[in-house]
Amino acid sequence: MGQLAGRRCLVTGAGRGIGEAIAAGLAAEGARVAVLDLDQARADAVAAQLPGGAIGVAADVSDPEQVAAAISAVEAAFGGIDALVNNAGIDTNASVVDMSLDLWDRMIAVNLRSVFLCSKAVLPGMLERGWGRIINISSQLAQKGAPDMAHYAAAKAGVIGFTRSLAYEVAAKGVTVNAICPGPVDTALWRAIPSGWRERKVSELPIGRPARVEEIVPTAVLLASDGGAYYIGATLNPNGGDIMV
Ligand SMILES: NC(=O)c1ccc[n+]([C@@H]2O[C@H](COP(=O)([O-])OP(=O)(O)OC[C@H]3O[C@@H](n4cnc5c(N)ncnc54)[C@H](O)[C@@H]3O)[C@@H](O)[C@H]2O)c1
Repeated sequence: MGQLAGRRCLVTGAGRGIGEAIAAGLAAEGARVAVLDLDQARADAVAAQLPGGAIGVAADVSDPEQVAAAISAVEAAFGGIDALVNNAGIDTNASVVDMSLDLWDRMIAVNLRSVFLCSKAVLPGMLERGWGRIINISSQLAQKGAPDMAHYAAAKAGVIGFTRSLAYEVAAKGVTVNAICPGPVDTALWRAIPSGWRERKVSELPIGRPARVEEIVPTAVLLASDGGAYYIGATLNPNGGDIMV
């Protein structure tokens, strides 16, 4: 029996990258997983690879109606959601001087508003059952900042503030809320960043390389499990030593 046997989990942005790896890690521990992504076919394809009756669901996590519909559909299919991983995110590069308001707003909507929308939608069921896990994928850039990433770092820092505040509200009711702040992880998102920026970033890392997606998974499994019950509003940092806290 895995440590998540019987648990029902929803992972956003699980059509590829870190989210896909986390979905696989949760399923390997016995969870039934809903794979949420923008594209239904992609979500279905990932779900089809997972054990335990996984399903795919399509939604744009920045859209309130789509989030409500997707989470209702998963709750109807599974009978509830015990753990939510807010992983969906985007990344672009622009200096503040050159950044359009549209780009700023889109970043905040996808990377921060989504965390509010998805968390708010799953919380009533978790609070009613007196058990829940919300795991928010922030970033080490929220803690350190980076040139041409002010919008991204601001959204991800907002995720940490949201995590801590919501953790206060629900910890005594059996629901834990925590954040993970990965360093660079070798995914499509990372590879789309200009190469000079990436080389500079890797040169700052004591470990000297980006993470593999599998290296983020154990932290998510811990926070989703019964064993993670005493982590409240924490930020866990699989970051290759970039920030040692
Ligand atoms: N890769 C890194 O170096 C790194 C480092 C720290 C944090 N992160 C964070 O980890 C998370 C996953 O990143 P990744 O590297 O796997 O990225 P990725 O681009 O490989 O995957 C992101 C997934 O999210 C989905 N997605 C994007 N916008 C969406 C939306 N509006 N609604 C629903 N789904 C959406 C995409 O379709 C994609 O499948 C992100 O929140 C990212 O900011 C990544």
